Amino acid sequence: MSAPPSDPYASLAQPFLDHYGLLRGRVRYELAARQLDLHLPPPQGRIIDIGGGAGHQSLRLAERGYEVVLADPSEEMLRRAEDRLNAVQPAIRERVELVRADADRCAELYGTGTFDAALCQGVVMYLPSTEPVIALLAGLVRPGGIASLIVKNAEALAMRAALEHRYADAIALFDANADLGRVGVVTRGDSLSSLIAMFKQHWLDSTAWYGIRVFTDHLGDQPAGDNDAFAVEAEWRAGQTDPYRQIARLLHLIGQRTTG
Ligand SMILES: C[S@@+](CC[C@H](N)C(=O)[O-])C[C@H]1O[C@@H](n2cnc3c(N)ncnc32)[C@H](O)[C@@H]1O
Repeated sequence: MSAPPSDPYASLAQPFLDHYGLLRGRVRYELAARQLDLHLPPPQGRIIDIGGGAGHQSLRLAERGYEVVLADPSEEMLRRAEDRLNAVQPAIRERVELVRADADRCAELYGTGTFDAALCQGVVMYLPSTEPVIALLAGLVRPGGIASLIVKNAEALAMRAALEHRYADAIALFDANADLGRVGVVTRGDSLSSLIAMFKQHWLDSTAWYGIRVFTDHLGDQPAGDNDAFAVEAEWRAGQTDPYRQIARLLHLIGQRTTG
């Protein structure tokens, strides 16, 4: 397999990792995990985590009993994933395969219908468009299999800026579909309606959708603490309840591959 020539994500590896030590990272991780677990098949199947990064969800899924392929184009992110894998029991470690590949390469490496679930979480905002990834997820899962996609919510970009009292930025963001993320990169959002339409076009039934981070998104780099359980619980409720979930920073869509 030919490896991608450079690693533009190397400098972002530490900020990505650090984010998991913050309240916003904890909320994202906990909600994504719980939302995913509501829809995954029993823990015996095979899952691919595209852009799996340092492996936070992959490792958790392996601990639950799934066989996981963690695919990521970044050598540095994979090195971080390997470090984390080396710290767990061999039986769990052996259930995770690390593959250096971007989304396009995954389409070449794996045949259609070869996974019970395909995840792409927190990745498409860094890419020029979302539809090729949705097509990829739909192609990789078997009929009845699950696709999980986490994106930035294009329709709520003004929320963070306004709650941080950056009102001029908030006004501009009503007409934007991208903004500067916390790791210092401008990233792109998607609207819920366009995602549902793309799912349908690629033979994915939109089984469920959730919001991630309604109440805590504007709290910046507040560290995770011992008393976060109520914050996580409030976010968990908001993430599945209208109108709150509509203004979440992130959207989590779950699709099920139809037989068509
Ligand atoms: C914010 S991290 C998310 C990591 C992980 N999914 C998580 O939720 O913790 C974004 C990841 O996307 C990866 N990535 C960037 N471009 C990609 C592409 N074209 N295909 C697949 N992954 C990509 C980066 O290397 C990075 O690990």
